[in-house]
Amino acid sequence: MHLSLAGKTALVTGGIRGIGRGISLELARRGANVAMVYANPSRTETANQAVNDILLLGSGAKAIGIQADLKVFENYQKIIDETLRGLGVTNIDITEIVHNAAVAWPVSTEDTSEQLYDDTMITNIRAPFFLTKTMLPHIPRGGRIILISSIAARRFSFGMSQTAYAISKAAIEALARNWAVEFGQSRGITVNALSVGFVETEMVQSLSPDSLEAYRKENARVTAAAPRSGTPDDIAQIAAFIASEESRWVTGSTVSANGGKWPI
Ligand SMILES: NC(=O)c1ccc[n+]([C@@H]2O[C@H](COP(=O)([O-])OP(=O)(O)OC[C@H]3O[C@@H](n4cnc5c(N)ncnc54)[C@H](OP(=O)(O)O)[C@@H]3O)[C@@H](O)[C@H]2O)c1
Repeated sequence: MHLSLAGKTALVTGGIRGIGRGISLELARRGANVAMVYANPSRTETANQAVNDILLLGSGAKAIGIQADLKVFENYQKIIDETLRGLGVTNIDITEIVHNAAVAWPVSTEDTSEQLYDDTMITNIRAPFFLTKTMLPHIPRGGRIILISSIAARRFSFGMSQTAYAISKAAIEALARNWAVEFGQSRGITVNALSVGFVETEMVQSLSPDSLEAYRKENARVTAAAPRSGTPDDIAQIAAFIASEESRWVTGSTVSANGGKWPI
């Protein structure tokens, strides 16, 4: 067992299911203690299952689930407090933050309400921004901030309008470039974004069966690495490298984490 992240503490937003769950598991497999944030109180069983799965890895990693809506500013200090208390780590020891939680709706600009637009921006951009700001005093030198972007930031999604989502992800990539400099020499923290392609999580279940099938076919055709959609583990392996000490010379990047579907 290669415990390259032993002794580290990771916070993964949206960490109990989908891509976030894959990332939580891989960081824990490599030895990191993991706090996983989720929004929906009815998902407590899913969160408990994710914690159990981590404990069963046998890597010695500890894990907790934290129910907190990231749209609510007041929850950020609660998330930090529960992470430190729940994982029994010291005050300045949250080494890895993975801003993975996001919402996406396949709607045209004409059908985008102000509420839907605001929910998208608050969850996808304002939350990572202010959660990071609140956490800065707890991130030691050598810390890693990993932002989850989407190929939608750089191209129109095949067969689907999701402009509000796309611009939120373009902003995520701007955050990586700006924070890499802002937190670089002064704080010793690297900041990178992962440009993720199509992964069959619950996020894409809002597509109609016909659209889903069309997406699968399109992915198989245009993805350079293999004729298939991505999996949470494909993304988790990249996130785990970026979380590691060995990634120290990568910062301010948006890493192509989409099998070459949209090379950067
Ligand atoms: N799937 C894809 O094809 C794809 C493609 C490109 C990029 N991405 C990006 O990859 C990331 C993960 O996507 P996914 O497909 O794994 O999504 P998902 O299956 O829909 O899971 C989203 C996670 O985010 C959490 N979340 C959403 N809003 C939240 C809030 N207000 N407060 C706290 N947690 C919240 C959810 O919590 P609950 O469990 O409580 O609902 C859930 O755990 C996102 O940033 C997404 O934009 C995905």
